[in-house]
Amino acid sequence: MSRSAHPAGPRHGDVLPEGHYTAPPADLNALDPKVWARTVERRQADGVLTVGGIDVRTLAAAHGTPAYVLDEDDFRARCRAWREAFGPGADVFYAGKAFLSRAVVRWLHEEGLNLDVCTGGELTTALAGGMPAGRIAMHGNNKSEAEIDRAVEAGVGRIVLDSFQEIARVARAARRHGVRQRVQVRVTVGVEAHTHEFIATAHEDQKFGLALADGTAAEAVRKVLAHGDSLELVGIHSHIGSQIFDMAGFEVSARRVVGLLSAVRDEHGVELPEIDLGGGLGIAYTSEDDPSEPHEIAKALGDIVARECEAAGLALPRLSVEPGRAIAGPTAFTLYEVGTVKPLDGLRTYVSVDGGMSDNIRTALYDAEYAVALASRASDAPPELVRVVGRHCESGDIVVRNAYLPADVVPGDLLAVPATGAYCRSMASNYNHTPRPPVIAVRDGEARVIVRRETEEDLLRLDVG
Ligand code: LLP
Repeated sequence: MSRSAHPAGPRHGDVLPEGHYTAPPADLNALDPKVWARTVERRQADGVLTVGGIDVRTLAAAHGTPAYVLDEDDFRARCRAWREAFGPGADVFYAGKAFLSRAVVRWLHEEGLNLDVCTGGELTTALAGGMPAGRIAMHGNNKSEAEIDRAVEAGVGRIVLDSFQEIARVARAARRHGVRQRVQVRVTVGVEAHTHEFIATAHEDQKFGLALADGTAAEAVRKVLAHGDSLELVGIHSHIGSQIFDMAGFEVSARRVVGLLSAVRDEHGVELPEIDLGGGLGIAYTSEDDPSEPHEIAKALGDIVARECEAAGLALPRLSVEPGRAIAGPTAFTLYEVGTVKPLDGLRTYVSVDGGMSDNIRTALYDAEYAVALASRASDAPPELVRVVGRHCESGDIVVRNAYLPADVVPGDLLAVPATGAYCRSMASNYNHTPRPPVIAVRDGEARVIVRRETEEDLLRLDVG
C-alpha cells in the first residue's frame, strides 16, 4: 500500500528544485496492468491499443471522441472478486455515485451485488435497471422529503440516517406508507483519513454523519429506537473517505463502531445486527500507486470486526462495504484525439485533446494524477515531458499534469487516459456548452453504447427561454 491521492512531496514529473524531472518510464509503449482495464492490450502487429479485442481507432471512428471506453468483463470480474472476497456472510454495496447506468445496474444484479444510491436520480436509475428495492441502500446528508418518500414507497432495504431532522422525516414517511423502515445511523468516527480534504469524511469538522465523540451518535440511536413503530434500527454505518490506501483508518473506524454497538447493548439491551464500513478503497491511477486486493481488504476488515466484537462480547454482526471507485475506476479509459501540440521552450509541451475538465474534473478538483498512453499507434520516439490539457477556457483545464509521451505525438493521434471509470462521467459537466461524452461498453469483440453522447440539441432542449 502506498501514497494518498494528494501526496505532500513532488509529484510525478514535477520540476524538482535541482531542475531534474522524475525519470521517464523505461518503455513508453508498455501498459502497466495496474492502471489499465484487464482486456486492454497493445497489439503486437501494429502497436494499436485494443480493448475486448476491439481496435481503439474503430471505436473512435464509430463513436467519436472523447469517449469513455468501459471493459465490461473487467467490471464484472471486479464485482465477483469483491463478492467472493467478502463471502456469503457479508454484503457488497456498489456505490453508484462512482458511475451508474442501467446497464451497470444489470451487471451488479447479475453478479450478486447490492447498490448504494444517494439521490432520487440514482434511485430512479437503480430501479429502472431492475435492482430489487430490498437490495438498495439510500444515502445522502440532505435527502429531500420527496426522495425519502420515494425510497420508503419503493421499499429500499435500508435508509442511512444522517441527521436528527432526517430521523423524524423517515419516521413520518414510514408511518404514511404503513411500513417499518429498516435504517442505519451514519456516524463520524473521528478518523483523519489520509486523502484529499474534499474526499475525507470521518473527521468531525464536516457535514456528514453524527459524531461518536460528543455523544450525538448515541443520542441519534435513542431517537431512532424511540420511533420503534416506524423505524427498525439494523445497524451503524461509517464511511471514512475515498482513495485511501492505509487500512489503519478502517481499523480505528471498526473499533469505534463496535464500541457504539456495545454501548447500545449496555444502554438498550439490543444487539444491532449490522455494521457498514463504507467504501473508500484506493485504486492505482499511476504506476506509483499500490492498492490492496479485495481479498486482502476483506480479510483485514473481517479480522478487525471479529476481534473487536469478541473483546466486547458481542455476536458477530453482518458486515457490509460500499466500494465504488475500486470496482468502476480501473475498468474504463477515456479516449481523446489530439488537436494541437504546443512546445513551450524550456518549459514543457502542451498537448491539447478534444475533452478536458468537462469529462474529468478530478485533476483540477483534487490534484489527481493520471497516466496517459499514445493509443492509435506505438512509437519509438524518445520520451517527452508533456502536460495533457483540454479545450476549455481556463488554464486549470488539465487532464494529466505531468506525463511522458513519445516526442512524435501529432494532431490526429489518439490518447488514452486510464482509470477514468469512477467519478469522471458521473462528475462530468456541460462547461462551455460541451456535450458530455458517451460510455461505450466493450465485451468479447463487441462495443455497445450504454450512455449515449449528448448533443448540442440536447443542450438546446433544456434552454427553454
Ligand atoms: N459510501 C459512501 C457513504 C460514500 O459517500 C462513498 C463516496 C462511497 C461509499 C464510495 O467511495 P469509493 O469506494 O468510491 O471511494 N468525487 C470524489 C470521490 C467522492 C466520494 C464520495 N463518497 C473523487 O473523484 O475522488
